Amino acid sequence: MSNFIVAVDGPAGSGKSTISKLVAEKYKLTYLDTGAMYRMVAFYSLEKGVDLDNTAEVELMLKNINIDIDGDKFILNGVDVSHEIRTPRVTSIVSKTASIRSIREKLVELQREIGSGKRVILDGRDIGTVVFPNAHLKVFLVASPEERAKRRLKEYKEKGIKSDYNSVLESIKERDHIDSTRKESPLKKAEDAIEVDTSFLSIKEVSDKISALVRERI
Ligand code: CDP
Ligand code: CDP
Repeated sequence: MSNFIVAVDGPAGSGKSTISKLVAEKYKLTYLDTGAMYRMVAFYSLEKGVDLDNTAEVELMLKNINIDIDGDKFILNGVDVSHEIRTPRVTSIVSKTASIRSIREKLVELQREIGSGKRVILDGRDIGTVVFPNAHLKVFLVASPEERAKRRLKEYKEKGIKSDYNSVLESIKERDHIDSTRKESPLKKAEDAIEVDTSFLSIKEVSDKISALVRERI
């Protein structure tokens, strides 16, 4: 099959990117982390002091932004910002950035351009509902907020980023709320998506489950 699309959606820390990367490697699919694209726009707005409530400033920002993805490198206007986009500072405003319609329209267009006619796996919040509603396989990963906070805190510790369990948990719950109640493409399970609760599953167990689903459809 020359065109094959896997959509992986779910809340922060449910395992989307980890599992998508493993499945991409196994089945030679191109992996696209759409959350990183929203993070790039959020990072740019912080750096340039863009007022996200000002439509003209947002429009100008979108004209001036050039996003390039080279493997696992995220290049913003020629500069590699792969690390900068993962900081708690960017995380704290990314959901606000992602709730703005014109920003979503630009990024969805780019995601469709990157994915169309290829063998791809994309992870995000609206892949199965909006970006590729005809995806060959749709997966919706979930896990308890407490488990997701534990996972994120462990990552911060490994990267030497200072944080604590309660603030990570609060940030996750706040993002869940903004992402699932916003007007534009809210986070929700597509009707035909397969839901997997990863709270008590290892990475290998989830990856085996999703791989079996991919194998059935490929
Ligand atoms: O990795 P993590 O789960 O923390 O988040 P992410 O996938 O990097 O996404 C960051 C934020 O971008 C999310 O909290 C959403 O607000 C937004 N997002 C979105 O609205 N739609 C997508 N397809 C992907 C991300
Ligand atoms: O992309 P998303 O925000 O949904 O989650 P992730 O970045 O793939 O996973 C967050 C963390 O949880 C990573 O450090 C994974 O290694 C870990 N994880 C886990 O411990 N068990 C799973 N079943 C899935 C992910």
